Amino acid sequence: NELGVVAVGFSGGQPKAGVDAAPMALIEAGLIQQLEEDLEFKVSFDGQVHSYSEILPADDPPYRNMKRPKFASAVTREVSEQVYNYAKDGKLVLTLGGDHSIAIGTISGTARAIRERLGREMAVIWVDAHADINTPETSDSGNIHGMPVSFLTGLATETREDVFGWLQDHHRLSTKKLVYIGLRDIDKGEKKILKEHGIKAFSMHDIDRHGIGKVMDMALGWIGSDTPIHLSFDIDALDPMWAPSTGTAVRGGLTLREGDFIAECVAETGSLVALDLVEVNPSLDEQGATDTVRSGLSIIRCSLGDTLL
Ligand code: ARG
Ligand code: MN
Ligand code: MN
Ligand code: MN
Repeated sequence: NELGVVAVGFSGGQPKAGVDAAPMALIEAGLIQQLEEDLEFKVSFDGQVHSYSEILPADDPPYRNMKRPKFASAVTREVSEQVYNYAKDGKLVLTLGGDHSIAIGTISGTARAIRERLGREMAVIWVDAHADINTPETSDSGNIHGMPVSFLTGLATETREDVFGWLQDHHRLSTKKLVYIGLRDIDKGEKKILKEHGIKAFSMHDIDRHGIGKVMDMALGWIGSDTPIHLSFDIDALDPMWAPSTGTAVRGGLTLREGDFIAECVAETGSLVALDLVEVNPSLDEQGATDTVRSGLSIIRCSLGDTLL
């Protein structure tokens, strides 16, 4: 089995430094070796954490309320190509973030490759405390890591090519092919969007009510078997007890086992085509950084087919 790895050291979708150091922290904790030796993947990796400093714009003022719009657009455009180039060859793609804005790149890249290669629309499972579906206009923070899903689904569009205008139909995802798990901190405008578009979402309340086993049956049932799946996993879906080192921690989250279980169920489908692991920030809650990195590694291993027995 072939796996392509993209390491994205980007933090510009939110204000806190340090999330760009996550790929190196995961790699130093033994990620690549575990993928090759324990999970027996043939790994393609260029061996570098990209910081995209060569495309850092000289001047990047807010636009439509978005902070650092040109840099985020340029980086995600580049990430989209990197992911596409692996996915078009049929490789499973693992992207290490970076903040969650990078999903504009990863999901657009896989969506395009799956359309071209299989003539199909893929599904996205977005595991997160947050919905990240603000439009530039509904966002209170102006942070682009709270907006990726709106650009990917076409709820937000922009004609300026240097501010996500490069996104085309073949990059996009239908709101019907999106499923959220773990939600617990949704902005007002986002609630309205989820409701109006009938987007499938399992909050922490649903997990408390039904248990994670039933929730995964329902989530995968919604997607339907044999549909290619892109899993975008924000580490802040986990409770801060398991993942304290992240920029927008929210209490009342998933246990590590619930997170691993979600990943294991996705792996069992055999339909995973891409995985993002984002928002680990080792410089926040430094006491908890090794635990957070370990949790991230565990989610990656489970998603890629590691089993308990
Ligand atoms: N909803 C808030 C915002 O739009 C928080 C988003 C947090 N996103 C994340 N990827 N951690 O600013
Ligand atoms: Mn989040
Ligand atoms: Mn909020
Ligand atoms: Mn997120």
